[in-house]
Amino acid sequence: MPATIVVGTQWGDEGKGKFTDLLAKEMSMVVRYQGGHNAGHTIVIDGEKFAIQLIPSGVFYDHITPVIGNGVVVDPFVLLKEMDMLSKRGINVSRLKLSGNAHLILPYHQELDALHERHLGKAKLGTTKRGIGPAYADKAMRVGIRVQDLLDENIFREKLHATLSHTNKVLTKVFNRLPLDPDQIADKVLSECLEGLQPHIADSVNIIHDALEAGQHVLFEGAQATFLDLDHGTYPFVTSSNPIAGGVCAGAGIGPKEITRVVGIAKAYVTRVGAGPFPSELFDEDGDRMVDIGREFGTNTGRRRRPGWFDAVMLRHAGRINGLTELAITKLDVLDTFDTIKMCVAYEIDGKRVEKLPYHQSELHRATPIYEEFPGWNTDMTSATEPNHLHPNAQAYLRALEDQVGIPVTLASTGPGRDQFIHWG
Ligand code: GDP
Ligand code: IMO
Ligand code: MG
Repeated sequence: MPATIVVGTQWGDEGKGKFTDLLAKEMSMVVRYQGGHNAGHTIVIDGEKFAIQLIPSGVFYDHITPVIGNGVVVDPFVLLKEMDMLSKRGINVSRLKLSGNAHLILPYHQELDALHERHLGKAKLGTTKRGIGPAYADKAMRVGIRVQDLLDENIFREKLHATLSHTNKVLTKVFNRLPLDPDQIADKVLSECLEGLQPHIADSVNIIHDALEAGQHVLFEGAQATFLDLDHGTYPFVTSSNPIAGGVCAGAGIGPKEITRVVGIAKAYVTRVGAGPFPSELFDEDGDRMVDIGREFGTNTGRRRRPGWFDAVMLRHAGRINGLTELAITKLDVLDTFDTIKMCVAYEIDGKRVEKLPYHQSELHRATPIYEEFPGWNTDMTSATEPNHLHPNAQAYLRALEDQVGIPVTLASTGPGRDQFIHWG
């Protein structure tokens, strides 16, 4: 009954989609356990690029059952569009299971997300405006609407009336907007989404447990990342779910003792989209080159990602929070042409060297990185498939990274393609 987790260790977009696809080859089931279509996971198969937001990245294999777990927030229109997009491109989505306990993102969540951001002005978080925060807020307030509610029209309408009686007050009295008609929303969702989703709605918890009990290997695919985690990230510049490995237990309904392997995905440098502290951020030519070479523009929103050097302080913390058993390093090839590569190994805060992530956010804002420098390799590594294909300087960088973080690197990726990776160590 092995269970593996793929988890982002930085601020997202580390390449979770690529490694989920890669690891799924050996699995039977791939489960998303949190987040929603704020995620954008890219998989490149034989030069063909797929960007997916909600459906687990294991969907490209016929032997995989893709499962959207109870902890995910699901926009039914987006899910159907994604299923349609994949079907049209020849991917079979008929095996998809959608938890009846997952909460729905409905049009007012998106509207509220945009209004909250506008209201915050300069203090805005830079959310994806997908309605993620408001949908999880409704869930916590116990006025959310679940996927299973779609199966009973009366319940669905009743719940929409109840939740909108409050939300409409917020829309009209706080934000000076027009109220929404619950029946109009119900009509649209039921007529456009129910038929397409119904065959997929399932009891995800028992499906996952039956697979584990049958000795099948289940992979849990994280979206977002450790430092976007609602509890452990750089609050308030975080998402509204728990992407960390522990989030699997609540978001998919399994106990911690089921988890045998936790693979932390990290870029060989760091990027962040949206606002929030970022000690090793670069504002210079090196940063611009990372963005250019790494094509660091959001898969989902197209926004430029903020670049920075690899931060070992963050990674050590991510190792603890997630119980990482190994690391997979992506985008090593993006550093191929840099003469010098830097790694943040500690912070300087108020004149003191600090090796652990400070719990107080103000300290993180004041932290300046202490770097170790490594000679670059000035070699194209995009066709490396064995550790000894890597230039000795690239090998030395990976070894130093392992030493600094204290977790073995088992995989390294040297290009976006499915075959561009090496087993390391
Ligand atoms: P995710 O959200 O963690 O799944 O990551 P994204 O898909 O949002 O962003 C990662 C981007 O890097 C995608 O465009 C991938 O195709 C690309 N990518 C992944 N691994 C590598 C790699 O090793 N090298 C390069 N150059 N690109 C990569
Ligand atoms: P993947 O799974 C990078 C960021 C947003 C914003 C903050 C809150 O592709 O790694 P939200 O819409 O979730 O309320 O936005 O979180 N964010 C991501 N950044 N990758 C993601 O997903 C992200 N999902 C959300 O930019 O700063
Ligand atoms: Mg992404």
